[in-house]
Amino acid sequence: MTTAKDKFESKKLPMMPIRDVVIFPFMMTPFVVGRESSVRALEEALAADKKIFLATQHDASIDEPKASEIYQVGTIANIVQSLKLPDGNVKVLVEGIERGKLLQATDTEGYLEATVRVARYTIESGPAVQQSMQRVTGLFEQYVKLCQSLNYETMISAVKMEDPAKLTDIIAANLQLSIEEKQELLEIFDPVERLTRIGDVLDIEIEKLNVDRSIQSRVKRQMEKAQKEYYLNEKIKAIQKELGRGEKSEFDELKKKIESAGMPKDVKEKALQELKKLEAMPPMSAESTVSRNYLDWLLAVPWKKKSKEIRNITRAEKTLNEDHYGLEKIKERILEFLAVRQLVKNPKGSILCFVGPPGVGKTSLGMSIAKATGRKFVRMSLGGVRDEAEIRGHRRTYIGALPGQIIQMMKKAGTKNPVFMLDEVDKMSMDFRGDPSAALLEVLDPEQNYMFVDHYLDVEYDLSQVFFVATANVLHTIPPALQDRMEVLRLHGYTEPEKVEIAKQFLIRKQTEQAGLSSKNISFSEDAITGLIRAYTREAGVRNLEREIGNVCRKVARKVVKEGAAYHADITAENLDDFLGVAKFRDTMAHEKSEVGLVTGLAWTEVGGSILSTEVTVVDGKGKLTLTGKLGDVMQESAQAAMSYIRSRANRLGLSRDFYRSLDLHVHVPEGAIPKDGPSAGITIATAIASALSKIPVRRDIAMTGEITLRGKVLPIGGLKEKLLAAHRAGIFEVILPKDNEKDLAEVPENLRSAMKLHFAETMDQVLQFALEGPLPEIIETPTQPIGALTPDTPGAPTAHQ
Ligand SMILES: Nc1ncnc2c1ncn2[C@@H]1O[C@H](COP(=O)(O)OP(=O)(O)O)[C@@H](O)[C@H]1O
Ligand SMILES: [Mg+2]
Repeated sequence: MTTAKDKFESKKLPMMPIRDVVIFPFMMTPFVVGRESSVRALEEALAADKKIFLATQHDASIDEPKASEIYQVGTIANIVQSLKLPDGNVKVLVEGIERGKLLQATDTEGYLEATVRVARYTIESGPAVQQSMQRVTGLFEQYVKLCQSLNYETMISAVKMEDPAKLTDIIAANLQLSIEEKQELLEIFDPVERLTRIGDVLDIEIEKLNVDRSIQSRVKRQMEKAQKEYYLNEKIKAIQKELGRGEKSEFDELKKKIESAGMPKDVKEKALQELKKLEAMPPMSAESTVSRNYLDWLLAVPWKKKSKEIRNITRAEKTLNEDHYGLEKIKERILEFLAVRQLVKNPKGSILCFVGPPGVGKTSLGMSIAKATGRKFVRMSLGGVRDEAEIRGHRRTYIGALPGQIIQMMKKAGTKNPVFMLDEVDKMSMDFRGDPSAALLEVLDPEQNYMFVDHYLDVEYDLSQVFFVATANVLHTIPPALQDRMEVLRLHGYTEPEKVEIAKQFLIRKQTEQAGLSSKNISFSEDAITGLIRAYTREAGVRNLEREIGNVCRKVARKVVKEGAAYHADITAENLDDFLGVAKFRDTMAHEKSEVGLVTGLAWTEVGGSILSTEVTVVDGKGKLTLTGKLGDVMQESAQAAMSYIRSRANRLGLSRDFYRSLDLHVHVPEGAIPKDGPSAGITIATAIASALSKIPVRRDIAMTGEITLRGKVLPIGGLKEKLLAAHRAGIFEVILPKDNEKDLAEVPENLRSAMKLHFAETMDQVLQFALEGPLPEIIETPTQPIGALTPDTPGAPTAHQ
């Protein structure tokens, strides 16, 4: 670093002490001059070469500082502009030229005259100076960026200069430093030394600014958050006030409700805890809605409220009889069940399950039980329930979560000991979302159900005082574990006389009342009821019968409104169609013509017994067996077995032994929309095939049911009573049954049995004898193959079209 002090020079100049500012060379500064001595010095300078020496006072508050109270180093400046203000002050704009040291100040004619020594330096620029300048320029750029009060653009252009003296002074002038710090920089005459010093100062200042900035932004963030919360809270309070909702009272009320709900201790604690959380939440937030809903549910389920139970069995018997005709055995079982429940504290596996076709009174028996025991009644349909969550609810973390059906129904019941009907347990299915029957098992298990946990409520709920009753159309689709828990009571379809009685004693009265009529407005003759049953319904129960009676009543109600309260309608067999339109069913099938290949079978379905026609047609072909009409696997196998039997009997039917090679058979069971399955159509299909091949018609007034073996034996079937009822409903009074079912006749009501002509068959041959209109052709030759030697696997045997 090479600097050389060139020369010293002394000058005499008017001097002006300045306050609160240090003026550097190259710096343009405007200020107002007020002191008289200063104005005098200014005038003196303006009169001469406009040069003036400016030096800063130690203490700004002193008006007439002595020379010792002024810094010794100042700046010689050029007065660029001056303007006399009306108040006597003068506004000036000065430009710093060079620094100077005060050697002497003398008071002359009212102002100070200074003798100032200036020092001029020439700098031999070298790499060290260059480096130093780069460092300072870089640091200054950083400084400007951090320091918001400086204009970046102007500052950066200002420092793009080669002269270190000028560079340092411009930077020094623009740094935000105290007067002392600036004065210190002004007092360094050597530009290179100044360069170093400025670098150091910048380093420190940048560091300070960085710290400031991080503190500032942290403080700012905190301030903003606190302010925002405060603002929002105030706003909410104002809104609540506007709405007239004192938030306090609402929480108080909830608290009161929780205290008095009769919850178990831990549930109460949980509820209070939730309430505390709710109080802390912003009232309009989504989370507070969730929390509030949850509390509402906790408060809505019954915790202690109970119906007072009626334990009088005689009274219960009376209620059951008042509500239902017949069903003697069922009522007896129910009463026994009620008695045992009273004696045994925790009866095991003790839930009643009514199984039977629709409309036989399962649901209404459940309601009767509730009435007889003084309990509330609720019903939950399990038909189509496939998700565990439907029973047990969703966890509260799900959006829109709700409790499951069990808890929802308990809320509906409002008491903790209702009769709870689980309708259609046989229609429950299971998929990937979990097995609902497992959840149901827990609900029904007396060892577990006193602490049933719904996913949503998430607290233990006691179901042990609930009286569960289940209903189902069929038993076989109910999971075995569930069946084990249940006491099964089977309800069968009603016979025609029973339906007539039910209509007379219950349904007509009920529907008349529901239509707003009295017995003065309407009466049904017995023939009309029979007509309704035969021509407008074909069902095991009485649901449609009740509906049709209701339809008649509503038609009459319209007339009453039109013609006056005195209107009376006598419903007879003759005028039924005036009310209900043409009959839906023809009276009987028995009068229809017998046909080749058309057989009436009997099936047992979910809706009770039904008749199921089977048609077979034969066409030229290659031995194909086609089956249509939505037949299940078991039924398809039955058809195969029937075919095997027919082939083994070819010669008896007057067929050549390889008849099937040139024929195609098509077996069709109409009403194709309803899936059919089960083996009991075996003899029906075999008879239809035999008839189609032998061209002998089948009696239309006879129905049949029975399983067939490959060897032509007839095996027993289930649902005897239902099937006989179905035949009777269809007007068919002659039925072929398996011999082995003879013992089951005990379950068939006497009046039904005596109305029917029953044939019991052990073999298919006997079935054909009963069913075919004509005798089979004479035996031409004895079978060369033993019966049953053919199986569906025999090569060349017809195969089912699957
Ligand atoms: N034995 C009966 N005595 C009186 N009414 C009956 C009888 N059986 C059924 N009902 C009536 O028939 C209608 C249908 O019965 P419901 O209980 O709904 O049948 P399910 O539940 O078995 O399908 C109800 O109005 C019911 O009161
Ligand atoms: Mg029902």
